[in-house]
Amino acid sequence: MDQAEQLRNIIKTKQLRRKSSARVLTITSGKGGVGKSNVSINLGIQLQKMGKKVLILDADFGLANVEVLFGAIPQYTLRDVIEGKKSLEDTITKGPLDIQFISGGTGVEGMANLNKVQLTNLLRNIPKLDALADVIIIDTGAGISDSVLEFVAAGSEVLLVSTPEPTSLTDAYSLLKSLYHYDGFSKQDTKIRIIANRVSNTIEGKNLHKKLNIVSEKFLGLSLDYLGSVPIDDQLVKAVMAQSPVTISYPKARSSKAFEQLAMDLLKENTEETEKRKSLSQIFQSFFQTNSK
Ligand SMILES: Nc1ncnc2c1ncn2[C@@H]1O[C@H](COP(=O)(O)OP(=O)(O)OP(=O)(O)O)[C@@H](O)[C@H]1O
Ligand SMILES: [Mg+2]
Repeated sequence: MDQAEQLRNIIKTKQLRRKSSARVLTITSGKGGVGKSNVSINLGIQLQKMGKKVLILDADFGLANVEVLFGAIPQYTLRDVIEGKKSLEDTITKGPLDIQFISGGTGVEGMANLNKVQLTNLLRNIPKLDALADVIIIDTGAGISDSVLEFVAAGSEVLLVSTPEPTSLTDAYSLLKSLYHYDGFSKQDTKIRIIANRVSNTIEGKNLHKKLNIVSEKFLGLSLDYLGSVPIDDQLVKAVMAQSPVTISYPKARSSKAFEQLAMDLLKENTEETEKRKSLSQIFQSFFQTNSK
């Protein structure tokens, strides 16, 4: 090994060991409407209750899911950052329990269409978020569009939400397949965990993971971990209607307890994995490098 190579290896190791200030969880799904936004906000609330400082980034651009579920009205959104009117920190809105969130705005056509000036405006601000939270949750849109895949491929911790419906499972598999073939996705650097939502019982959730994992391992060589399940719950539906997270309105509801368990399991991670995590700025950097080529 020559000196230059040694130096490169040292830098690489240091980069890997670099402890990011925030842990980034990317929430996604194959099919729409399976519960991503509810998982994002309720997992966020439970983590916040456990003393973590949480920030939710609504990356389902244009649909404003998170603010609607929080019943909050943001003064500024990512659109203001893109247009250079505000810094990213100015767009942080407080939800229940003072949870922080950033609205993707309404009518944003998709980040891939941004011009260079708009990209620079966003990029310049993004690394600052790392210092503002312990956990950053990114609620992506559903499906296999490029901007969703880009977020998922860039994130080191992905939570893939599926319901037991056959169409949700096949769509989850399609997303994994597209991800596997996506430039910039690395099997080794990405941990994919399944969350089974709207299950009748815990066994149904475990079976969902088993089925998905079998095909994923067989055809893609991709192993999926299992985080856990959330039961089908009328109180969650009521909470959605009332625009208040179930974990706030009905903390004792079946789904609230499940979100609490998921949050506890997420916090059990060992330090070695913690050190390997990508920071939010690294995630966004790869996003924009690909899109500005
Ligand atoms: N555990 C659950 N029990 C009962 N109903 C649920 C549950 N999870 C989600 N739902 C229902 O599904 C609806 C859609 O949930 P949510 O908005 O979280 O999905 P999404 O994946 O973010 O959708 P989209 O892809 O449109 O952004 C909720 O409004 C609620 O009615
Ligand atoms: Mg949503």
